[in-house]
Amino acid sequence: MPKNTSSNLQNQFANKAQAWSARFSEPVSDLVKRYTASVSFDQRLADFDIQGSLAHADMLESIGIISTDDKAAIERGMAQILEEIHAGQFTWSVDLEDVHLNIEKRLVELIGDAGKRLHTGRSRNDQVATDIRLWVRNEIDIAIDLLRQLRHKLASLALQHTDTILPGFTHLQVAQPVTFGHHLLAYAEMFGRDAERLADCRKRVNRLPLGAAALAGTSYPIDRERVARTLGFDQVCRNSLDAVSDRDFAIEFCAAAALIMTHISRLSEELVLWMSPRIGFIDLADRFCTGSSIMPQKKNPDVPELARGKTGRVNGHLIALLTLMKGQPLAYNKDNQEDKEGLFDSADTIRDTLTIFVDMIGGIRVKADAMRAAALQGFATATDLADYLVKKGVPFRDAHETVAHAVRECEQRGCDLADLPLDDLQKFHALIEQDIYSVLTLEGSVASRNHVGGTAPARVKQEAERIVAETSSS
Ligand code: ARG
Repeated sequence: MPKNTSSNLQNQFANKAQAWSARFSEPVSDLVKRYTASVSFDQRLADFDIQGSLAHADMLESIGIISTDDKAAIERGMAQILEEIHAGQFTWSVDLEDVHLNIEKRLVELIGDAGKRLHTGRSRNDQVATDIRLWVRNEIDIAIDLLRQLRHKLASLALQHTDTILPGFTHLQVAQPVTFGHHLLAYAEMFGRDAERLADCRKRVNRLPLGAAALAGTSYPIDRERVARTLGFDQVCRNSLDAVSDRDFAIEFCAAAALIMTHISRLSEELVLWMSPRIGFIDLADRFCTGSSIMPQKKNPDVPELARGKTGRVNGHLIALLTLMKGQPLAYNKDNQEDKEGLFDSADTIRDTLTIFVDMIGGIRVKADAMRAAALQGFATATDLADYLVKKGVPFRDAHETVAHAVRECEQRGCDLADLPLDDLQKFHALIEQDIYSVLTLEGSVASRNHVGGTAPARVKQEAERIVAETSSS
């Protein structure tokens, strides 16, 4: 290695491969270079990296650390870099490790010394923490909007099916009749909470780490509030060591993403079951299914199956991030570079999945007759018979037993409770009268559950209308 002379010292950043290489006596091997580099994946942060740099440059100029000309040159250089990146003409180099150094090197190439002044009072540690927060904030906003659209589709479909009856299940056995609209709105509730969770997570994401520098802050008279305002952060992080090191905000996002996928997976499981010819409650539009290369009769619900499967990777990323964080002493450690791929993949997966589901839910064809036929099997109105007796003064436990006898009788005869003649029903309890038949019908059963949160068509209509209105784009 040649000794540094003062002139090549001045040029070291422009000429040397690594920004820090003046201190080292031997180069890293190619494998170590690849192993430690993140540019192959963190280049996705480029837009936010540039936004952060521009806000930093603006602040440096405002406190007189860089000149107005330098700031203008940085803005000019960054505008060109952004163009190059978007046009796919930017050359990313693994020698320059990560997105930050790649962009900075190019800036110096384009504008010279002004570019070298940009990193004053800043470190890649607070820079990357800022970039990720900006990136996650953007993904949160996208996901919240997709959840809104999905709830809109679910509630709109529910509105068409306030009166469509299907069996409600517990233990995957027919339990009580419910309306299909009610069933769909259960998912609208889940996705509503998912959106709330993201909005809540956003509050903690939206804090500015920049200014923490490497770990201890900086001796320059920086104006962090100004940078926060420029970048739309609500607050600045209050402790520099914490600001550069913790990724809890990304973990929260991954947890929210895991719950979204968990809900998607539950819905997917139902779509798969409902699509099965054995059940046949719905049909999905062909564009979400595939055929079999060997069995011509098949139409497989690939999209919901794959969504159910992708839940695994998103759950995995959450565990990976938690594990990444757990053993780290303050402050920044290179471990944190591993936060990105899982985080990106979680965000990509929920984004793609939600986008597809918005379209897919809108294209569900409901087979109301099959739903109704299924609800008529399995004594779905047995609880209604018990409740009928209770309302006539029979203690619930006794009523329950009476109905159990009646169900057994029906099983032997191979008929439904509503098929038993009044005389026969009265053998089980003398208080049963003609009006029992309105209770034993599916319509009577669902209509009677008329309270907030109940399955009655009138309630489902109200709820669906509320959600449709709430989720209409303004
Ligand atoms: N690429 C790094 C990361 O993603 C940037 C921060 C590097 N800081 C450092 N001191 N090596 O975390």
